[in-house]
Amino acid sequence: MKTLVAYFSQTGQTKKVADAIYESIEGDKELKEFSEVESLEGYDLSFIGFPIIAFGPAAQGKEFLEQKAAGKKVALFITHAAPEDQEGIGAWLDKCKEAAAGAELVGFFDCQGELSEQIAEFLMKNEDPTMRSFGERRPETIGQPDESRLQRARDFAKEVMGKV
Ligand SMILES: Cc1cc2nc3c(=O)[nH]c(=O)nc-3n(C[C@H](O)[C@H](O)[C@H](O)COP(=O)(O)O)c2cc1C
Repeated sequence: MKTLVAYFSQTGQTKKVADAIYESIEGDKELKEFSEVESLEGYDLSFIGFPIIAFGPAAQGKEFLEQKAAGKKVALFITHAAPEDQEGIGAWLDKCKEAAAGAELVGFFDCQGELSEQIAEFLMKNEDPTMRSFGERRPETIGQPDESRLQRARDFAKEVMGKV
């Protein structure tokens, strides 16, 4: 059984989840950024992670799934600055699942990740009030994903490994 953990992470939050998943996988495994992955051939299972950007999958995540994941066993992990129980977030996550429609989706995980200072400042200058209010919410995201979320990610990885 050979497992890949592949991720795209602009500010390091999704990478923290990727590391947590990677460390709890047993057996033959590799941890790579998207840019280092040519194809998913040769892996029995791939954990694929990226952030939510503008209410849907990061373009890099969508592209990666559409180009490489067809017919492959895939488990997704997603980070977003909004709290997990925020209204409307289900639609953003559904778009991530849609991008993986050609794959065999064997697991799905999402959690909050910190909104970086730089991005928050950028958003607060936006003309769109929705974007501005989003930027203002940085303080409540600081320190995420915290240890409890990383533990959930480890448990998720073990559950998927047990299933596949
Ligand atoms: C341009 C941009 C747009 C974003 N849009 C959203 C969004 O619509 N909803 C959300 O919850 N988080 C949004 N975020 C926040 C990121 O999803 C969050 O901070 C994530 O944990 C960052 O992961 P990374 O460090 O791995 O890139 C956005 C971030 C950026 C940079």
